[in-house]
Amino acid sequence: MKVTIFGTGYVGLVTGACLAEMGNQVICVDIDASKIERLQRGEVPIYEPGLEPIVRSNGAEGRLGFTTDAVSAVAHGEVIFIAVGTPPDEDGSADLQYVLSVARTIGAHLDRYAVVVNKSTVPVGTADRVRATISQAVESRGVEVPFDVVSNPEFLKEGAAVEDCLKPDRIIVGASSERAVTVLRSLYAPFNRSHDRMVVMDERSAELTKYAANAMLATKISFMNEIANIAERVGADVELVRQGIGSDPRIGHHFIYPGAGYGGSCFPKDVQALERTARSHGYDARLLAAVEAVNHDQKAKLFELISRHFDGQLAGKTIALWGLAFKPNTDDMREAPSRRLMEALWQVGAKVRAFDPEARAETARQYGERDDLVLCEHAYDALQGADVLAIVTEWKAFRSPDFSRIRGLLKTPAIFDGRNLYEPAAVEAAGLAYYGMGRGRSL
Ligand code: UGA
Repeated sequence: MKVTIFGTGYVGLVTGACLAEMGNQVICVDIDASKIERLQRGEVPIYEPGLEPIVRSNGAEGRLGFTTDAVSAVAHGEVIFIAVGTPPDEDGSADLQYVLSVARTIGAHLDRYAVVVNKSTVPVGTADRVRATISQAVESRGVEVPFDVVSNPEFLKEGAAVEDCLKPDRIIVGASSERAVTVLRSLYAPFNRSHDRMVVMDERSAELTKYAANAMLATKISFMNEIANIAERVGADVELVRQGIGSDPRIGHHFIYPGAGYGGSCFPKDVQALERTARSHGYDARLLAAVEAVNHDQKAKLFELISRHFDGQLAGKTIALWGLAFKPNTDDMREAPSRRLMEALWQVGAKVRAFDPEARAETARQYGERDDLVLCEHAYDALQGADVLAIVTEWKAFRSPDFSRIRGLLKTPAIFDGRNLYEPAAVEAAGLAYYGMGRGRSL
């Protein structure tokens, strides 16, 4: 099929590349000319495992093209995806200006039936607004063009985006037109070969499904962080509690890992946006507000532990950080817990030496040159001259370090394990103090 994708961010680019990989003719369009030029050369602007090879191969085979020309892009697609950003505005609601501007562009140029698909995470009711915006633009041209608007939210995880996109566990389609459902069934048929993953519903339910999924996952994390905070006060080890409750299949082992707080471009933004949506409909979503509040405090946790270790005397100290990205396998720093930690350390006059396998360039871009930040090329370089080590992101390479080497390099050997990667006894046996998240002995 002929597919057009507006927006070459994570969602748009991955969706475009995966649909091309399945044999479709895909054009991705973006207003950022320099990004499009890079993509045309086969350069992928984000770190995402497996993405660059399929962008290159499908580009070389002529199935995946990039353009800034919205008019030819609208003319191309039988299915037109909207995958542009919906950043939070001042009050935390999703800002729809980019989505609606794409809708106006589509309405201004559409000249035959197409299915317009909302892939961006958008508040409930946006499909209706997109439909109205396109209709208005079409009518103002004095023509009649049939089209449908469908909500088809994306559930991919950064770091595993290509795999999630090629092997989705569900394909949510919110549509009120049979014709549109038929088009999407055929577009998604190659993803559905082993069993039908498509769940068809109305647009509003599809839109809410996306927020509900992210809010549920964020709730699991904040819940476990709360249990961790209780565990360390009562002298229990949350890691044992996690295994104990995860073995109940109704709870499950996934997404109950306590840590330095959730970050990224989705959970913080989506929990807030859902809370605002509820409020604007007269409902006080207390649980969502609590999920957000617990996470906010959790991001301060590593700093509090480090500060307490030094009796609040952090000026002049150097803290080594392993991990900057908001999670492993990405260079994304959005809402990353490392940022809160570094900013808090700088505020009290401490210095940071940090290593991350992928997010060093992004960190340099965010913070520029500064005396109190050294970005190191190797994990153990970050420990040179440092007082203590904090683990902020659970990259695999940090899982089995050489503790005696760490002890030898640190001035006051202590590990602040923001992801509970290590066994406290093993760290202590190597002669280092251990602080974890909810491990019974941090307080
Ligand atoms: C999340 C969802 O998992 C995707 O399904 C969804 O499509 C995506 O948002 C989106 O809305 O676009 P993502 O933001 O890439 O994906 O990251 P996750 O893997 O979900 O991790 C989010 C944060 O939670 C990370 O900071 C991670 O370290 C933290 N986390 C995760 C925990 O602290 N504990 C856990 O047990 C799991």
